[in-house]
Order: sequence, then structure tokens, then C-alpha cells
Amino acid sequence: MDVADLRREFAEAGQEHVFRFWEELDGAGRECLRGQLEAVDLDELRSLVETLVLSEPSAAEDLSAVEPPTFTALPGHGGDEQGWREARAAGEEALRAGRVAAFTVAGGQGTRLGFDGPKGTFPLTPVRRASLFQVFAEKILSARETYGTELPWWIMTSPANHAATVAFFEENGFFGLGSGDVHFFPQGMLPAVDPDGKLLLESPSSLALSPDGHGGSLRALLRSGATAAMAERGIDTISYFQVDNPLENTMDPAFLGFHLLGGSEMSSKMVAKTDPEEKVGIFVRQGDHLRVLEYSDLPEEWMRLRDPDGSLRFRAANIAIHVLDRAFVERMGAKGGDLPVHRAVKRIGVVDEEGRTVTPEEPNGIKFEMFVFDALPRARNPLLLETSRAENFSPVKNAEGRDSPRTAREDLLRQYTRWLRAAGTGVPLGAEGLPTVNFEISPLRGFDEHAFLARPANHHLPSPAEGTVYDGES
Ligand code: UTP
Repeated sequence: MDVADLRREFAEAGQEHVFRFWEELDGAGRECLRGQLEAVDLDELRSLVETLVLSEPSAAEDLSAVEPPTFTALPGHGGDEQGWREARAAGEEALRAGRVAAFTVAGGQGTRLGFDGPKGTFPLTPVRRASLFQVFAEKILSARETYGTELPWWIMTSPANHAATVAFFEENGFFGLGSGDVHFFPQGMLPAVDPDGKLLLESPSSLALSPDGHGGSLRALLRSGATAAMAERGIDTISYFQVDNPLENTMDPAFLGFHLLGGSEMSSKMVAKTDPEEKVGIFVRQGDHLRVLEYSDLPEEWMRLRDPDGSLRFRAANIAIHVLDRAFVERMGAKGGDLPVHRAVKRIGVVDEEGRTVTPEEPNGIKFEMFVFDALPRARNPLLLETSRAENFSPVKNAEGRDSPRTAREDLLRQYTRWLRAAGTGVPLGAEGLPTVNFEISPLRGFDEHAFLARPANHHLPSPAEGTVYDGES
């Protein structure tokens, strides 16, 4: 578009200030800014500013008719063992038939972890310090071997970490997966604004942009051509997970099976919330819909309500593991995502009058993002499955303390210990159920406990010593 036209459009929208350094920019700077401005949907921006920035903060969430949801319980918690066996068999059949893709959302900024690089490249495991990406890659390799399937993997990056993510896979030979079976695409970005709804400039030649949230994955899957490529390969089922959870199995046969047998368009895993204060979203039923209430939207008194058996009434915690029907993603994506946009007040680096980027001490702007769980109320037959926290969830969010690399390593060690003991190998235990030695089991030996125990070579392994790695060799 002609710069004069662009300038007029932005002026009409009350955003002409984004051109304030234009005269000083060189050719490359102008190209950069112009490209970003052309990508801004001014109508969408106007409506976001009106509803999320300039209006009074909307009254509290509508909590009418909200109740705890129904869910399929684990066999140990009253779930039907036969139903679980049938689901696992159905999921395995879909895997063998090549109907499943793994999908990781890895476009986040990882601000809390503060690691210099894409979060998936963080060196995590207890001995090898294998990265999160390597952990998932090895699980996929193990599942491939088990099911004789290709199980291709799509990874959503952001423009900020795309090149570094792809380079990491190239440097590591795609961890043996084959470059044709790992696909990357960047998610969309949304501009940040100040409290008056004015676009923020990060530098003279760049808007302050941030990724449009994991909910942006639905439209990005479609726009990038990922869903079309899946369709071409006969894939109709997408196993969705986050880059920061090393206990995620990349796909779970029983979960896939429940999803497929239930004719569901979107299914989610839940674990029981441990304490009322745990900062997780909660699944609820509202009328006919399954939805997630963010931690901050659950009223204090509801947080502490208990059922007669003593368990928390609103305990169904969202651990961000979903199965999505490909056609559902296509339908949602075609509507531009069709998910509500949320606001987050943040500290945002902005340009000062001299053209330098300065990040203030206090929040100065508003970012916009979408959440993938907001798609649940739009899905046919959404299904909620209980799962074991110990086997499925230990996120790496913070540099220290709760949900940090240290807690994730400890949870991995507890998992290795359970698996070895189940396979007949003794592991000396110390405090808090942790082994007295630091060791590691490569996911190549089994992507989950079932797969680990199904391999004869994993039975009666020697007890671990300090630094033992049970690698992929059988
Ligand atoms: P989080 O909400 O934990 O955000 O993302 P984050 O960006 O990783 O970390 P903080 O909040 O800045 O500390 C949960 C998952 O969703 C992905 C992340 O990469 C992570 O796997 N995500 C988040 C995206 O892919 N895109 C986004 O825009 C946001």
C-alpha cells in the first residue's frame, strides 16, 4: 500500500503518532514499520480498544449456572476399567493408522523463566540436561517404534523465536526424527497499546508487538497450511501440548481413544487441584457448555468449597493438554480464530523521544491474547478426562521455586523411580520420595509407563548409581 494512504488510514484511526520517526528512518527501517502497519487490522484494533481498554472493566465474569463438570475418572478413582481399555485400544488403532499429529505451542515469551533462548531449548533433564524439545522428540521416536507410525510433529513458534527454534533442530539433526516430519510455523502477533488505546512503538521502526496467545494457534494452524498438510497425510486428530511440560507424553493412546469414541471435537485432560490456592484454570460446566474459568475469575469462597468426601468442589484443573479434531480447527481458524480476546496489563519496552527503548518499572500498556481453552464451548461433545498429575504435569514456568526446573527435575526423578520399581528394579529412596542418586531414563525406552513396561529389556535393569543414564540402547 502507498505510504500516504497508510498514513491517512492510521490518522483516521487516531494512530498517526506511529509515523513520528518516519522522516529519520532509513530504507530498511521504513520497510519494517510499513510491513508491520500493513498487518494491523485497524477495525479489529478499534473494537479491542473500545471493549478492553476504554470501557469500564467489564463486570465480573458471568457465573450463573456454573457447576463442577462431569468427567471420565481414572480407573483408580472409580472410572470403568473396561472403558479405559477400549479407549486405549481405539487410540492405538488411530496411531497405527497414521491419523494423529503431535502439536506443540512454543510461541510464548517465557518471561518468568527468564532463559535466553526459546523455552523448548532449555536444558532440563536431571543428568543429560536434554532440552525440552529433545524430551518430546525422544517420546515421539518411541511412539513411532511402538506403533509403526510416522507421528509427524508441528511446532508453533513466534516471529521472535522462530529462527532460533529451527536452528536448534537443525544443529541437533532433528533428533533423528527426519526434517520432513518436523514442521514449524510462526503464530500471529497483536500490537500493544497504552491506557488511552494508542499503539505503542518499541523502537522508531517497530511497533510493540506480542504473540496473540496460545489461542492464536487455531488460526495459525490454518493460515500456515499446517491443517492442509495434515489432511494430505490422512491426519484428522491433533495432540496438543505446551512446550513447558516435560511430563507430557506427546500423545496418549487412551486420551485419543476417548476423544475418538466420544465423537468429540475437542477434549481436555484435567488433574485434581492440590490446594485451593494453586494458580490454575478450572474446568466448569455452565449450562450446556464446558469451559475454563481462569484462576482469577473463580470467587474466593468457591475456591475453598468442599464436597462431602472432603475433596475441593471446583478441583478440575486445566493442564493444557488437549486433543483437537482437525476439521474443528479448520472451522474455528476460518473465522479468524473466533475466540474472545483477553487483556493483560504489562510492562512493555517503548521508545523514548531520543529513539531508545526503555522498559518502565511499572506496567505501562496492554497486551492482547487469546486462549485455546476458549474454544471448548464451541466444540461438539467436548470431553474431559481425569489423568494422573504425577505422570502428566510438571510445568517449567519460573526460574526458582514452584513450577521451576528444579521441581520438574524432581518430578521426573519420581517418575523414573516409579517405572523402575514397577519393572522390578530397586531404587534407594530418601526424603520426599526422591531417590538418593541423580539418574535418568531416556524417553526412548518408553514414552509412557505402559510403553516402558511393555519392553522386556526394561525389566530388572541394574539399580541406578549417581549419574546413571538408561539410554535408548536395549
Ligand atoms: P504461558 O502462558 O505459560 O506463557 O504459555 P509463556 O510465554 O511461556 O511464559 P510467561 O508467561 O511469559 O512467563 C503456556 C504455553 O503456551 C505457549 C507457550 O510457549 C507455552 O507452551 N504460548 C503462549 C504460545 O505458544 N503463544 C503465546 O502467545 C503464548
